[in-house]
Amino acid sequence: MSTTLCEKVVREGREFVRVPKGLANVIIDQTTISGVDPEGKETIYRGYLISDIGKHASFEEAAYLILYGELPCDEELKEFSRKLNSERWIPTKLIDALKTVPITHPMYYGAFGVLLLGMYDPNPDDMSRDTLYDRAIKIIAKLPVIFANGWYLSRHGHEIKPDQSLRHAGDVLRMILGGGIMPGDIEIRAFESSLVLYMDHGFNASTFTNRVIASTLSDMYSAVAGAIGALKGPLHGGANQRALEMMLEIGEPEKARAYVEEKLKKKEKIMGFGHRVYKVHDPRTDVLREWLSKLAEYNPEARKFLAMIDELEKAMWELKKIPSNVDLYTAALYHVLGIPKDLYTPIFAIARVVGWTAHYIEQVTHNKIIRPKEEYVGPTGFKYIPIEERCKR
Ligand code: CMC
Repeated sequence: MSTTLCEKVVREGREFVRVPKGLANVIIDQTTISGVDPEGKETIYRGYLISDIGKHASFEEAAYLILYGELPCDEELKEFSRKLNSERWIPTKLIDALKTVPITHPMYYGAFGVLLLGMYDPNPDDMSRDTLYDRAIKIIAKLPVIFANGWYLSRHGHEIKPDQSLRHAGDVLRMILGGGIMPGDIEIRAFESSLVLYMDHGFNASTFTNRVIASTLSDMYSAVAGAIGALKGPLHGGANQRALEMMLEIGEPEKARAYVEEKLKKKEKIMGFGHRVYKVHDPRTDVLREWLSKLAEYNPEARKFLAMIDELEKAMWELKKIPSNVDLYTAALYHVLGIPKDLYTPIFAIARVVGWTAHYIEQVTHNKIIRPKEEYVGPTGFKYIPIEERCKR
């Protein structure tokens, strides 16, 4: 079955709608959190263009906007930042558990850690409104500490302690880099901007996963853990790590075109290109290009990666008419910032968790269980045969 249009079908004496594979172009529900404008050019965060918020807002301002629906005023921002900072730590029991994890992909540490947070919550199924918002802030604040500790405890045997006197983005970058050095202001702002741009994006695959889990009225920790699993895949959040690996394999900008031609000939995908929604241009790339250009003024690696991106974009547009996406740019940015590549997708999760928790609250507030219908095309009519007879040859 690979339809591109919805069609009515009659099954079991009832009428159903058959939708395109991959739910492409299917609207499954309404949301006021974020979504692409009708022309498919820009994503809107609660009424604001994503590029506007991505360029100007702090992590705290954007997270407040996504969660509560409006940009905060002074006192609201102060109180939200205070709560977020005061939750940026994890209990000793969690640190002890993370000391036992093997060296594996760090996305596992995130799902494991969030589920442990749920296990230590005395009432994870409490769905009262204030509790849901407090829980969202708690998960947003603790997730980076979980990822940083899972990574550095398993690889280097040392614990990463948060610094609650710092703002969220700066402290997250400091922890992700191993806790020793405080990055510069431009580096922190560029990183913060990438978090804001990653924060939410309509009913993308991980948010949809999160909403499906929420729709069963399961708890927020389980929904976030499920979303982390969906984000890990190379067609979704896992693309930023793959995009960097690709650029490292290419090596030099002048080799980019030949690489693209070769891959396309073999019908392989070029990571960091293509999008279900943006068919001409991903607006998030403009903001990240500005930051990379700023860094390129004094960082030769940023210059080289910008030149490589230019060559890749030219080749992909000429040969396939496919634009780059946000992951090509975050891959280059995180590389320039000196972040280990396996931590790129966890950074995506550290940002997208804001959207997941907001969508969780929206889903349970206006809930209907998400339960589509399959079209069974396997055999029918078999009768059970006891094993002694079934296996006689
Ligand atoms: N490289 C080569 N060809 C591509 C690519 C690509 N990156 N993306 C799409 N195509 C081709 C695809 O092969 C198909 O060609 P044809 O019609 O000849 O069979 C055509 O373009 C339509 O693509 P599609 O796979 O049907 O598009 P989709 O909407 O189902 O998939 C996508 C979107 C993001 C999964 C896909 O573009 C892709 O796999 N990109 C690479 C992975 C990537 O960068 N993912 C990050 C997405 S942005 C961040 C996020 O939201 O997660």
